[in-house]
Amino acid sequence: MYGNDFAVPEEPLNAAETPEYSAALQDQADGVLDRDGEGTPHFDELIAADKRIEPRDEMPQEYRDTLIRQIAQHAHSEIIGMQPEGNWITRAPSLRRKAILMAKVQDEAGHGLYLYSAAETLGMSRDEMLDRLHTGRQKYSSIFNYPTLTWADAGAIGWLVDGAAIMNQVPLCRCSYGPYGRAMVRVCKEESFHQRQGFEILWALMQGTEAQREMAQDAVNRTWWPALMMFGPPDTGENASGGHTEQSMAWGIKRFSNDDLRQKFIDMTVPQAQKLGLTLPDPDLRWNAERGHWDFGPVDWDEFWQVVKGNGPVNAQRIAHRVRAHEEGAWVREAATAHAAKQARDEKKEVAA
Ligand SMILES: [Fe+2]
Ligand SMILES: [Fe+2]
Repeated sequence: MYGNDFAVPEEPLNAAETPEYSAALQDQADGVLDRDGEGTPHFDELIAADKRIEPRDEMPQEYRDTLIRQIAQHAHSEIIGMQPEGNWITRAPSLRRKAILMAKVQDEAGHGLYLYSAAETLGMSRDEMLDRLHTGRQKYSSIFNYPTLTWADAGAIGWLVDGAAIMNQVPLCRCSYGPYGRAMVRVCKEESFHQRQGFEILWALMQGTEAQREMAQDAVNRTWWPALMMFGPPDTGENASGGHTEQSMAWGIKRFSNDDLRQKFIDMTVPQAQKLGLTLPDPDLRWNAERGHWDFGPVDWDEFWQVVKGNGPVNAQRIAHRVRAHEEGAWVREAATAHAAKQARDEKKEVAA
C-alpha cells in the first residue's frame, strides 16, 4: 500500500540517511563506544578516550544535571509533540493517511518512553519529571506551541520538524552517556520514516489542485522559521548567546554547535523544497558559492524567547491537555501497578512451590 508513487530525490532526505548515521550505527554494532569491562576508569579518562559513561559510573553532578535536563526536555517534546498531529488523526483525508499518522504519533509516544527510561537511570523518577513538565519547571521544544491549522501542517511537521529533530539527534547517537546514545540510534531510524511521510504528504498536495498547493505553501510559510529555531539560539560567532554548548561539547554530549546544525539542515532542505515546488519564506535565501552553503535571513529570536516563556499561540492549551490526559490515565497506572504486584506475588509462590 505504501508504494513509491512519488519522486524520491536521489540525495538523502534527512540526516538519518547520511553516512554519519550509518557510521554511528556501525560503531554501535561493533561496540566501539562500549567498554571492555576492565575496572572503572575515572570519568575524565572515559570522556578523553571517547568511551561511554554508564549509569553505574561516577560522574560530576553537573554532568548528571545537564543530562537530566536535556533528556527530560527531549522526552517531554516527544509526548507533547503527539498533540499537534494527533489533532488530525480523525480528520486525515483517507483511511491510509489515518493509519500512517496514527502509527507516527504512536512512535512519538514510544520515543518518550525510551527517553524517560534513559533519564530515570540518572536518578530522577518519571513522576518527578512529569510533575516538572506539568508545573512548567521543565520545558519542551517550543515548536509544539504552534497550532496545526490545516491537513498540510501534518506534512510540514513531518518534513521540517522531524527533519530538524533528526539533524539534532544523529550526532546524539554518539553521546557520551550510554543510555541516551543507544536510544537515539533507534529513535533516528523511526524519525526518518516520519520525515519521509511528511515529504510525501506535501508531494501529494503539490500534485493536486491550486487550493491544495496553496494549503501546502501556507503550512510551510508558518513552519519554516519555527523549525529553524528548533536548533536553539546562535552559540558561535559574534551573536553567540552563552548557553551550555561549550561545556556540553567538552563532555561529549553535543558534537556540533546550534549554528552548524541549522546550516546543515538548511543546506539539505532547500533542494527538497525546490523539488516539491515550494518556496521557503526567506527572501535572503541564496547559494553562497564561496562558503559552499545557503545564506539565509535573520531568525526572529524575540519570537523564540516569547514562545519559550509561555507566550506562544497554544502553550497553555498544550499543558492543559497534557495534565488532563495524565489525570484521566490515573486508573491505567493504578491497574498496571496492581498487575505487576500480582505477577511478582505469583512468581514468588511458584519459586516457593
Ligand atoms: Fe520522535
Ligand atoms: Fe517523529
